[in-house]
Amino acid sequence: MKKAFFFLFVTIGFSLPNHLMANEPDSAYIFAYATEKNAGRNGLHFAWSTDRNTWHSIGPERTFLRSEYASGRHGKRMLSPYLIKGNDGMWHCLWSVHEGYAVFAHCTSTDLISWGQQAFPTTGNTGNCMNPSVTFSPTGQDYLITWKSLQAGNTKTYSCRTKDFRTYSIPQAENVAVPHRQQVTINGITESGTLHRVAWNEVEALIQADKMAKYKAIQNAERLAINPDLFKDTITLNVTPRPEESKKISDMLIGVFFEDINYGADGGLYAELVQNRDFEYSPNDIGREENWTATNSWTTGGESLLFDIDTVAPLHAHNPHYAVLDIKEKGHGLVNDGFDGVPVKAGEKYDFSIFARSSNSKRGKITVRLLDEGGKVIGEARTGKISKTWNKLSAVVEATASTVNGRIEVIPNMEGKVDLDMVSLFPQKTFKNRKNGMRADLAQAIADIHPRFVRFPGGCVAHGNGLDNIYRWENTIGPLEGRKPLRNLWGYHQTMGLGYYEYFQFCEDIGAEPLPVVAAGVCCQNSSIGGAGQMGIPMEEMPEYIESLLNLIEWANGDPSESPWAKMRAEAGHPKPFNLKYLGVGNEDLITPVFEERFTMIFKAIKEKYPEIQVVGTSGPFSEGPDYVEGWKIASKLGIPLVDEHYYQPAGWFLNNHDYYDRYDRSKPKVYLGEYATHIPGKGNNIETALLEAYHLIGCERNGDIVSMTSYAPLLAKDRRTRWRPDLIYFNNTEVKPGTSYYTQLLFGQNSGNEYIPSVLTLSDNRDDVRKRIGISVVKDSLSQDLILKFVNLLPVKVQATIDLAPLGISGKQDATKTVLSGMPEDWKARPETSSIAIEPQYRDELPAYSLTIVRLKSKS
Ligand code: AHR
Repeated sequence: MKKAFFFLFVTIGFSLPNHLMANEPDSAYIFAYATEKNAGRNGLHFAWSTDRNTWHSIGPERTFLRSEYASGRHGKRMLSPYLIKGNDGMWHCLWSVHEGYAVFAHCTSTDLISWGQQAFPTTGNTGNCMNPSVTFSPTGQDYLITWKSLQAGNTKTYSCRTKDFRTYSIPQAENVAVPHRQQVTINGITESGTLHRVAWNEVEALIQADKMAKYKAIQNAERLAINPDLFKDTITLNVTPRPEESKKISDMLIGVFFEDINYGADGGLYAELVQNRDFEYSPNDIGREENWTATNSWTTGGESLLFDIDTVAPLHAHNPHYAVLDIKEKGHGLVNDGFDGVPVKAGEKYDFSIFARSSNSKRGKITVRLLDEGGKVIGEARTGKISKTWNKLSAVVEATASTVNGRIEVIPNMEGKVDLDMVSLFPQKTFKNRKNGMRADLAQAIADIHPRFVRFPGGCVAHGNGLDNIYRWENTIGPLEGRKPLRNLWGYHQTMGLGYYEYFQFCEDIGAEPLPVVAAGVCCQNSSIGGAGQMGIPMEEMPEYIESLLNLIEWANGDPSESPWAKMRAEAGHPKPFNLKYLGVGNEDLITPVFEERFTMIFKAIKEKYPEIQVVGTSGPFSEGPDYVEGWKIASKLGIPLVDEHYYQPAGWFLNNHDYYDRYDRSKPKVYLGEYATHIPGKGNNIETALLEAYHLIGCERNGDIVSMTSYAPLLAKDRRTRWRPDLIYFNNTEVKPGTSYYTQLLFGQNSGNEYIPSVLTLSDNRDDVRKRIGISVVKDSLSQDLILKFVNLLPVKVQATIDLAPLGISGKQDATKTVLSGMPEDWKARPETSSIAIEPQYRDELPAYSLTIVRLKSKS
């Protein structure tokens, strides 16, 4: 897969085959250590020496292994690493993760460069775990692990034994010596660590790995803009398609990734206008903000009314809080200011609903009013009468004027006590006019991409911050008042009004396959709640968790007459199966033994009961490194159909990794590139990001035999609520503002094919800077029989392109549409322009500087 690396070494000339290097020693010493810099987060370093006296640091402080334990202030620390070569020939590294944790970390490597899964065994009630060390036990049968522990002011030594670094004996307080770290002076600083004698080529490999990392950093720092003076002569490009080599490619290549991030769902795609309709907001939702309580977004519309929250007799156990009003004087109610205001349009109708009850003998109706920014009433309606017990009341209110920043007033027409919950105002004009539906303009912007699938509900939202925050699909279906809200990992509140039913319905409405992603029995490795980082669902609870995932498949695809889960789907309004085909298990998890064990259980259970479901595995958050390698290993071992890759990379990475998938083994699982985007520090998306993503998608199309699906991430971001940048579609309450990268997705989604026709490219200038700035893809769509040509020109100058269409059966003049997206790299306002053209079999075109050009030859008029 990484054969290209060797080529790069040779190209830049910093490596010479060993036999050309005279006088290198047979062996040398290496010293493994970590510094205290960055609170111990800089990981494992190496220095080498031939005499144990003069030490040469590699890098000078290249990190060869980084700790993945926990997150935030306490996380990712490697304290006093201890390295040994085990009797299995592997290097084993142990380290302490924090002064306050009874945990040590373990990881292995064959070459000190690539490291495997990290495991974090706990040492129980022995206090903290400092200076963990490992030696062969006297019998040579197992390893003896020793550490020092500070407990109640006393330092004790503990030990335990292991054969495989997976299971450990119970720690014993023992009077054994903890091996000392050695001390050497490196660049004038005394460091403590472990010393090893190794063959010189192992040292050489470490030095080369450091140089490779530096070279990659240079490549990654490259930007699209390049001096046009370097390209003085006209550049010509001749393209000769080779239809005889054409291959089938995925017809699912372009999809969307939806996550409730940046207020993507509540306050975003979900069209509900009332914020905190369920009175379930809590300080826990947002963490640091104390004012985020059950009354958030609500005020009283007058002084003669007391407003409180109660939990004594709620509407539903999942929805324990409700409002209690004590109305001293008729005519007063509650006011909700929506999600940054309530937008309404003159002449449009809105469905109001509310649950209410009152034990008063004189009970009134409820008036709902739409208020404009100045408080003027611009719509009013009345519900039926309040009952003694919880009852749903509704009314339709029509706006007489428009406002972008309005409010909603809810007035029970009575005096005395009244309880209220689930206060809702929905535009009748939702996407496809669905009740409890999506905001029409946002949903349409997504639908326009023609996504072949929709991934939901995340992202990190799927695996959650802590075990209690794992997104449980069954809490998001059924009547709204019975859904279980959840703290949103991105720092707000999820009502779950946009739940699994609505996601599946939306997929059906836009002709996309649903791709739900569930947690792989572990929460996010960066979790800060309930423990430190990744935690696994306890083994005794795994059967119940797996059952719930099987129930999801049953709910989506089952027969309502046989399955209670399918019956729920039918009762919600969808008797026909949703025809679920894919299920993502895991989201860019840290690949640890805890993960692997649970993932394997889940995968096997699904495969056994529903072999037709394509399980999508995960390979961590990066395009290389331990999680990527280990995730792929598990996928290959288990024969998982698809692997979800994530990478947010700088411009230079996309420019220099156009061949990323050309290097992939065709016999392994297929790729779902589930999250990716070009990230340029301090920038949103612009022509530079849009074109580099187009360039990468051209590489995906070329490899569409193994790259089955892709989705840019994240999809939505609300103005002033953005926690992640860049995003594909920005919006506020009334506007949808797609970023430049959106148009790449749109154009590729609207111009996908299912057959790839390779081409030979001949350039007038063969410099690397030219070659790597031109991308072309020729595809055919079997449904329309249309031929689609895509050209990416990343040069700062025009390219005169000629493409010979005769081998593709084009013999005379033919009508086509041509769409061009171009601009200067920094341009974020550029939009695609489409024109109708007639083209000859020898099609000539001038590709503008920094452009994406798509030509679609209509085979049917
Ligand atoms: O796309 C935003 C976040 O990026 C996702 O939640 C997560 O999977 C990734 O780290």
